[in-house]
Amino acid sequence: MAETINDLLKGNRAWVKDIKDKIPDFFEQLEAGQSPKFLWIGCSDSRVPATEITNAVPGSIFVQRNIANMVVHTDSNLLSVVYYAVMVLKVKHIIVCGHYGCGGIQAALSNKRYGFLDNWLVHIKDVYRIHKDELDAFEDDGLRSDRFVELNIQEQVNNLSMVSFIQEQWEKGEFPYIHGWVYSLNNGLIKDLGVTVNDFHHLDEVYQYKKKKDLNEKPKP
Ligand code: CO
Repeated sequence: MAETINDLLKGNRAWVKDIKDKIPDFFEQLEAGQSPKFLWIGCSDSRVPATEITNAVPGSIFVQRNIANMVVHTDSNLLSVVYYAVMVLKVKHIIVCGHYGCGGIQAALSNKRYGFLDNWLVHIKDVYRIHKDELDAFEDDGLRSDRFVELNIQEQVNNLSMVSFIQEQWEKGEFPYIHGWVYSLNNGLIKDLGVTVNDFHHLDEVYQYKKKKDLNEKPKP
């Protein structure tokens, strides 16, 4: 494991050598531009790196990571990444990938203070409130935490579905599909949660943006 800054720089040179041995024109190819088919929204956790765990080469996945893979509608950093990925790169799939044993989820489950971080964790606590009945019914803390991880991923898929420019793309019959995945730290495997969407009909009606045409048809008061 890398311990010093020098380890990372040495690691970089070793990586370049390895990749050039396998694919001599690898960097010339990448320099020409990127056209990834996937946007990854994952946790910042050092153990869940998007490209390594999917065995994907650089150029494959556009990535945004934060604590507990959250989609917060006032996060202009995340929204800019999503906008660029969807509208410019035209990615076909957005993957929200959480992981069991997530520290952010554990922290949100507790009543401890984490200083500035509490302002981020409150968004995770909001997910708990939505699913309080189901989560409070667990007697086993581990099972409750695992289910919370899954429900949080599902809610972030919902949060992405609420983004107006994504809904606009769907109305035009365009990508993306939005997927919810969960990664297991104990065996390295990803599970598809089966919550894939490419329309907004699973959302409460208040989150569904209507076509401009429909709005015009509304009777005037
Ligand atoms: Co995490």
